[in-house]
Amino acid sequence: MPDEVWTRVDQLFDTTLIGHDPVLEAAIQDGVSAGLPQIQVAPNQGKLLHLLARAINARSILEVGTLGGYSTIWLARALPDGGHVTTLEVDPRHAEVAAANIARAGLRDLVDVRVGRALDSLEQLEREGASPFDFVFIDADKPSTADYFMWAVRLTRPGALIVVDNVVRQGQVADADSDDPNVQGMRRFNDVLAAETRVSATAVQTVGAKGYDGFALALVTGTS
Ligand code: SAH
Ligand code: DHB
Ligand code: MG
Repeated sequence: MPDEVWTRVDQLFDTTLIGHDPVLEAAIQDGVSAGLPQIQVAPNQGKLLHLLARAINARSILEVGTLGGYSTIWLARALPDGGHVTTLEVDPRHAEVAAANIARAGLRDLVDVRVGRALDSLEQLEREGASPFDFVFIDADKPSTADYFMWAVRLTRPGALIVVDNVVRQGQVADADSDDPNVQGMRRFNDVLAAETRVSATAVQTVGAKGYDGFALALVTGTS
């Protein structure tokens, strides 16, 4: 099935189920203008994250990989009163664009954009006693995904949901011989996920305007 068909179907759902959203559209446009890679989640995927966070009534959300703040805005809009998002980004230029987009969305007081290597920020969050988080979205450098997931399990409570982007990589995740570090990173993540007794997990393949990829979902049960 050609990508063109996937894109048309995404456009249908975006039109019917999501609609015109000037703040989110401006966030993407400013990312384009600033030369950011256009690798944010698709609108229907952003809304999926939003609905999942709302469904579990997440008050404290952690995101690893901010880019221009597109998925961050979807997540922050899911928060109940008093909730907050902490989002981690290594590239100061990305973080700057994100901060402006988040402010324009009226979400500045709800979102903490932390600049630095995510592994350092995660350690710092633990030192600060910032956990437990209710919802974690992992979407940064793919080779470190397994490490981010182990941190997510450590920083969440039973009942929390961990969502991981890009676990399929156009199907390459099933290729043990791939020499792509991103693919190997996702294979290692899948092994860690399978071995983690404190979560119940699944993974789904997706197609759409962003191509062929997928999400993993892990519910933290806290028991083996
Ligand atoms: N979640 C965003 C897209 C994130 S793209 C959205 O859907 O809108 C991945 C981001 O992870 C990029 O901005 C990249 O700079 C960042 N990143 C890469 N390596 C990182 C690291 N070690 N620590 C923190 N962020 C990192
Ligand atoms: C890439 C990263 C992503 O997070 C994504 O959703 C799509 C592509 C990338 O690095 O190519
Ligand atoms: Mg992604």
